[in-house]
Amino acid sequence: MGKLLILGAGGHGKVVAECALSLGIYTTIAFLDDDEKVIEESILGSCPVIGTFSDAGSFVHKFSEAFVALGNNRSRVRLITYLREIGYKIPCLIHPAAYVSKSAHIEIGTVIMAGAVVNADAHIGVGGIINTGASVDHDCVLGVGVHLSPGARLGGTVTVGDYTWICMGANVVNNVHVGKGSVAAAGATVIRDVGDNLLVAKVPARELKKTDLKR
Ligand SMILES: CC(C)(COP(=O)(O)OP(=O)(O)OC[C@H]1O[C@@H](n2cnc3c(N)ncnc32)[C@H](O)[C@@H]1OP(=O)(O)O)[C@@H](O)C(=O)NCCC(=O)NCCS
Repeated sequence: MGKLLILGAGGHGKVVAECALSLGIYTTIAFLDDDEKVIEESILGSCPVIGTFSDAGSFVHKFSEAFVALGNNRSRVRLITYLREIGYKIPCLIHPAAYVSKSAHIEIGTVIMAGAVVNADAHIGVGGIINTGASVDHDCVLGVGVHLSPGARLGGTVTVGDYTWICMGANVVNNVHVGKGSVAAAGATVIRDVGDNLLVAKVPARELKKTDLKR
């Protein structure tokens, strides 16, 4: 049984904690967050917020593992890199009610929420979020820091570049490539390749604008 420190005590962090609790492998789960409103709060009644992100170094001997629960794709991956450097083990958290093929490859710092499906030979890069009820079909390859929001769906052999966000209920048809730093807006159906740093929306999806690179 291990001890898990979660960075990010917002709504996403709460769902990550519930996922970790459901695995029954942690005796202690606590949070760090920079929002002073949540410091000293208890999340889900049993997971206290014990400090800010800058305190991560001082907890490395008390918590064997750390997980980043931030929605910002670039910040999440940056923080994972830092936590590894200072000695934390970074787990993958896979909810018991998710289905993940034995042949899928899931990199560290990834959470796979309840109801999600990851099918054969899919590859999910570091710091991925496969959110509630999202699905990643066979042979998909997702870069680092990719977020599939609730109900997003990738057909077979889709490739998704680093830091891209596939929003709620968006679909990407099989064999399509979505570039780095791009966003498929909620409800979009992507039927053709999408370049880097683009927001696409609607059915069929079309380019609306360049994305904010900080996202
Ligand atoms: C994509 C999204 C994040 C908006 O991104 P944004 O960069 O802030 O874009 P804006 O709000 O400035 O909108 C830009 C344009 O895209 C349009 N647009 C935005 N989202 C759209 C959508 N889902 N479908 C169709 N058009 C959309 C806007 O109407 C706007 O068009 P206009 O310039 O003609 O007025 C947002 O619309 C979205 O899809 N949110 C869902 C997020 C989600 O999945 N959350 C779950 C978290 S777990």
